[in-house]
Amino acid sequence: MTTRQAATKRASASLVPAIALEGSGPIYQQLAEWFRRAIAEGRLRPGQRVPSTRALAGELGVSRLPVLGAYEQLLAEGYLESFTGSGTCVAAAIPHEGPAPPRRRVQRSPTAAAAASGPRRVAARVAAMASPPQTWLESQGAFRVGVPALDHFPHGTWSRLLGRHARHVGTDALVYGDTLGHAPLRAAIAEYLATVRAVHADADQILVTSGSQHGLQICAHALLDPGDHAWVEEPGYPGAHQALAAVGALPVLVPVDADGMDVAAGVRRAPAARLAYVTPSHQFPLGATMSAARRIELLQWATRAGSWIVEDDYDSEYRYGSKPIAALQGLDADARVIYVGTFSKVLFPALRLGYLVVPKDLLPAFRAARDALDTCSPMLPQRVLHDFIREGHFARHIRRMRMLYAARRAALQAAIRRHLPDTLQVVGAEAGLQLTALLPPGVDDVALSQRAARAGVSVRPLSPCYRGETKRHGLILGYGSVGERSIQESVRRLARCL
Ligand SMILES: Cc1ncc(COP(=O)(O)O)c(C=O)c1O
Repeated sequence: MTTRQAATKRASASLVPAIALEGSGPIYQQLAEWFRRAIAEGRLRPGQRVPSTRALAGELGVSRLPVLGAYEQLLAEGYLESFTGSGTCVAAAIPHEGPAPPRRRVQRSPTAAAAASGPRRVAARVAAMASPPQTWLESQGAFRVGVPALDHFPHGTWSRLLGRHARHVGTDALVYGDTLGHAPLRAAIAEYLATVRAVHADADQILVTSGSQHGLQICAHALLDPGDHAWVEEPGYPGAHQALAAVGALPVLVPVDADGMDVAAGVRRAPAARLAYVTPSHQFPLGATMSAARRIELLQWATRAGSWIVEDDYDSEYRYGSKPIAALQGLDADARVIYVGTFSKVLFPALRLGYLVVPKDLLPAFRAARDALDTCSPMLPQRVLHDFIREGHFARHIRRMRMLYAARRAALQAAIRRHLPDTLQVVGAEAGLQLTALLPPGVDDVALSQRAARAGVSVRPLSPCYRGETKRHGLILGYGSVGERSIQESVRRLARCL
């Protein structure tokens, strides 16, 4: 006798379970759902015989058809099995732990059951991955950080290029693309970086990412093991902390002053850190440009310690009052720098395209990390972007935006001088799409940003960018997406909140 036959023999004949059909939806679905739950909760045991369709239909006072439909479904899903001559039984292969305690037998939705069971275990590092609450986003008004002038984007041109590629899509655009990105786009990016940012890169060193946050994640996965130390700027970019936390690396807070990251302090705190994350062109959030002396000191430390430098060059296309400062990567003679760039600020953030410039010997590690994370970036936007750059629209757009942002920045500085002359001290306005304004002692920036959000002004508080005990309070004001008239009005409203 096989185990199944034995189980069938032992099973009770055909007791009709108490089934209450009170839910909504077709009867066969309700019945199937009742049996699934009863089997999952151990109320019906493996091998136990279930009533015949005729008996069950009679007991429930319904036609036989829905019962037949439910049994068929359960047989197909493997909850039931039938043997010629011995009827239909709960499948013997279902694991059995005995009936669940009575408390759990009460039928309830999985959501209610999850809520009742208390906190359920997730990875411990998730807490470190969470970004600070973004209360300032409750307002969609001026001065949202990181948003470019979307109404000045050449949508017509972009749509035309998009249409061109969407209409003539070949099968090569529908299969998995190269993990490192669309080769012609990589060549165009390498050329752009060499010309504009003095970055040394061949096209084969470019890895197209889904934005710079993704680039930081790839760096963390390729370069760090859990427990490794990594220098981060204090105050700094919360996204960098998130990327480090995702791999279990430990941030070492290195203070920032008017010359950028204080490298000597980093050496004192963690001389053998595996990696340093820096924003040398326009420190986020205080806006300093890293001095030449600090750049050289950082590169020398990395060479000495055998460590890596991740250079996040997120908004360096826009620099006012002086020529663009060459990237740190261009100074690096020991291939220690991984350069991170993005199209979020120069085009639009939802595009989710950016790039890494990877030292050649690290390419296999970066390829493996990227492949493990998400295989490759979507193909269609990469092709469109390639044409956008090659046909000159990219360079033209940046030129136009540089003038527009310069005017908006000047308008914001003037409005602050006019309405808040003794309250806000502007720092870090030399580049990018945002400036930071320090508040007088005693003013709580988080509370102020919440008040401002209620008044329709979105200002990001500075203090949550600090992870240590000592915090300065201030406001980060993005002016990229705000017209000059709105800048005046919004600063006036902000002044009232103060
Ligand atoms: C310093 C810094 N790095 C990276 C990013 C993220 O850019 P992306 O949209 O490419 O992920 C931002 C966004 O504001 C940023 O401020």
